Amino acid sequence: MHCTRKVQDDLVWVGADDRRLPFFEGVYGVPDGVSYNSYLLLDEKTVLFDTCDKAVYEVFFENVAYALGGRKLDYLLISHMEPDHAATIGSLLLRYPEARILCNAKVKTMLAQFFQTDYSDRIDLVKEGDVFSTGRHELTFVMAPMVHWPEVMMTYDKTDKILFTADAFGTFGALNGRLFNDETDFFTENLSEARRYYTNIVGKYGPQVQAVLKKAAALDIATVCPLHGFVWRSHFGDFLEKYLLWSSYTPEEQSVMLAYASVYGHTENAANILAAKLVERGVRVRMYDTSVTPASYIVSDAFRCSHLVFAATTYNAGVFVTMENLLHDLAAHNLQKRKVAVIENGSWAPTSGKVMRELIAPMKNIEFIADNITLKSALAADQEAALDALADAIAAEINPAPVVSAAAPAAAEAASAAPVALDVDGGAFHKFTYGVEVLTTCVDGKDYGCIINSAGQAASGDPKKVTISVIKKNHTADMIAKSGKFNISILTEDAPFDLFKRFGFQSGRDTDKFAGVTWTERTANGIRYIPEYTNAVLACEVISVEDLDTSVLFVANVVEAKVLSKAPSCTYAYYHAHIKPKKNPAPEQKESWVCRVCGYVYEGAELPDDFVCPLCKHGKEDFEHVVPVTKKKQKGYVCTICGHFEPCEGELPADYTCPLCKHGRDDFEPAEQ
Ligand code: FEO
Repeated sequence: MHCTRKVQDDLVWVGADDRRLPFFEGVYGVPDGVSYNSYLLLDEKTVLFDTCDKAVYEVFFENVAYALGGRKLDYLLISHMEPDHAATIGSLLLRYPEARILCNAKVKTMLAQFFQTDYSDRIDLVKEGDVFSTGRHELTFVMAPMVHWPEVMMTYDKTDKILFTADAFGTFGALNGRLFNDETDFFTENLSEARRYYTNIVGKYGPQVQAVLKKAAALDIATVCPLHGFVWRSHFGDFLEKYLLWSSYTPEEQSVMLAYASVYGHTENAANILAAKLVERGVRVRMYDTSVTPASYIVSDAFRCSHLVFAATTYNAGVFVTMENLLHDLAAHNLQKRKVAVIENGSWAPTSGKVMRELIAPMKNIEFIADNITLKSALAADQEAALDALADAIAAEINPAPVVSAAAPAAAEAASAAPVALDVDGGAFHKFTYGVEVLTTCVDGKDYGCIINSAGQAASGDPKKVTISVIKKNHTADMIAKSGKFNISILTEDAPFDLFKRFGFQSGRDTDKFAGVTWTERTANGIRYIPEYTNAVLACEVISVEDLDTSVLFVANVVEAKVLSKAPSCTYAYYHAHIKPKKNPAPEQKESWVCRVCGYVYEGAELPDDFVCPLCKHGKEDFEHVVPVTKKKQKGYVCTICGHFEPCEGELPADYTCPLCKHGRDDFEPAEQ
């Protein structure tokens, strides 16, 4: 029985999932399966974009027949001859003897090699820039050699702005019913398998990928149809950003990939100690035992992390085999531009460090950040200092000390002096006019955000500079310190209270503020922003950090900014007057302290000086002391029908009528309020 999905009215996905394949290309485990995508265009002419792996031929042919609906197949367009997409070409051409083949010259050569058949009389050759009309659609061809074989070709549908990208932008993992990127939480659920797919399948060919990305940049792309994984119809720029990093061998994150090979656990022990020391210094560590984790996962994280540490024991006067294989694999995948450290072990003649360095040597732009650390059988107590020094060196690069701006000597002297105790009225600070913004950042693929009212332009030169101040207890402050970048989404007056609640009244430490959120977008830096109820977004890179005791001041260059709407900005005052719900009067008011920021009520006469709002993390200075006014009870009458209270010291007039429900005096009873 067929299983197809429409990409759009005249384009149908006719591919299939394979969940029983143990190893893709015979080497890469695919525990979540893989999809083989094929697309059928139903224009005046029908065109099938590639075929499928032989493992799924049965449902593939049923899909093609069903989608054709009795029409003949006019063309098979071949983008790539690797058998996961081409194995069923021979069978397809037998089933559809009238179908012609659209392909380039290199494909033609490989067709003859794979199928030992001369298809020359059925082939229409195309080359870069040719245009082929199928009726309504105009197709043009973009050669993409070595992405991932030399014959690879992308096709651009000029009519509907669809780019068929062959292996590029593919993902490991079966589709499981989902076809489009917005039918999965891609950056949470699928990014790691997309990274593993890219780095292992195409990673070696970064320059070729960059070349084709440059060509693609000239195209107006609405939809991307790869041969594996999801069809992209939104937020493609977010995925493209990853490709730009991976293909230029730029680390995605400042973190450590620590891989070790250990026979009896002593090298592992040293690796564990180093990992703990790194984590204590605030460094993110991704750690692997090369005897346990297949190399494709380690290669993937080696592309992800800025710093690599390899620890291995000596074996057969060389290096332990699983580490040797890993380092060969990394070199074969052209990994480069990394900071590296090596730990070797050997009970009588440690040589693994030397061999590891020789295996790493062919990789370009590698910087060794320390001398090898040599263990003799096990880490000796006096060697802990060497691990501390290595952890310090890595941490200093990954988490550099805040750049405190150079203050003038006089100012520095004044700052170090005790403050003069003048009268500071907190109310004066509420006379400033503040805007309200959603501040967002992203660390290790996880998104964070909060509400601030402290963003402002600090310099108008090039690049323009902004400052933000974030309360230290706010988790987003920690995350910006790690990522070194953030976005400011400037809220407008129509912003709903729910938006403030989502980002302002809960903590990112224990809540994913973006859970279920599908309405954000990302700027080129990969960070989310809020496209609705906002009038501008600014993407910023931190250049200095000032510790302000309770808050952190970030100074940042603006690297991207765009106006999103003409709606007026929401001010802090407007938020309080018009957006924040008014509290119902408490039946019995107690002496309390009310947070001016989020409305949290602390009941009691005294608020401790070090009190921090449990909702929004603001301190005592943002609380208003509420002292109940003792009101004298008022005499009157209450309507027994609708509850209206009519103040009255004497008798209600005989002709009195309830102003709400219009019942007469007989329906009123004496009451006090
Ligand atoms: Fe999916 Fe290069 O084949």
